[in-house]
Amino acid sequence: MRIDVVSIFPEYLAPLELSLIGKARQDGILDLHVHDLRSFTTDRHRTVDDTPYGGGAGMVMKPEPWSQALAAVAEARPGHRGKPVLIVPSPAGERFTQALAHELAGEEHLAFACGRYEGIDERVIEWAGEHFDVRPVSLGDYVLNGGEVAVLAMVEAVGRLLPGVVGNPESLVEESHSDGLLEYPVYTKPAVWRDREVPAVLLSGNHGKIAQWRRHEQFRRTSERRPDLLEAFDAGKLPRADRSALQELGYDIVDGRPVRRPGKAESAG
Ligand code: ADE
Repeated sequence: MRIDVVSIFPEYLAPLELSLIGKARQDGILDLHVHDLRSFTTDRHRTVDDTPYGGGAGMVMKPEPWSQALAAVAEARPGHRGKPVLIVPSPAGERFTQALAHELAGEEHLAFACGRYEGIDERVIEWAGEHFDVRPVSLGDYVLNGGEVAVLAMVEAVGRLLPGVVGNPESLVEESHSDGLLEYPVYTKPAVWRDREVPAVLLSGNHGKIAQWRRHEQFRRTSERRPDLLEAFDAGKLPRADRSALQELGYDIVDGRPVRRPGKAESAG
């Protein structure tokens, strides 16, 4: 996969040289290029922003350096078919999810346009649609100072799904959000630490019981921490053990979705 990132702070993206993503680059799995937006300016001060039309606080990123930078990125894609995807990190975008990470991991070429200040002139986003499949994407319902931190998160989430990046692909299967539930808790040696014991079932060697306990913990955690996820969970074709785990946690299955039984909620967990 090829990834291009355009930013006025290219140094912000330095961590993408480390760890599994850095290794993926060395191994040729990820061809990642970071571009300095200021190198596409033509004035002496290398200006990238100006005051907003209509007034108001802050500055807006100018269209011209962005169009030059994005045109260069759109051209730099030897042998690729179709339009690359241009992610514009923004708190006003669609939510970044594991499902979107999987979708993006199937692309040949991703580009990221890191806005700063109040954002990029909207005409750039419209014009970019001629060259890219443009997607404004938000990391969550909070405001960052710019797109760079969001890009670090998204590149890591997408990059680790590329074949060969994570050593044991099994670890991608049983993790939070892979099946709409949160991950079960994990433990390692010693079996007793500061008077706290590892749950006995994990030492039993009974793999059926362990799998059942882990599944129950997934439901319990998701119910406690992310009831929104559990209520959206497809419980239509669950095995009997899963149905009774949900029952025990105070949920009935109505029209294929877990619905919290009134009155039982407080005892869940
Ligand atoms: N830029 C500023 N805030 C952001 C957010 N929440 N997600 C993505 N990009 C952003």
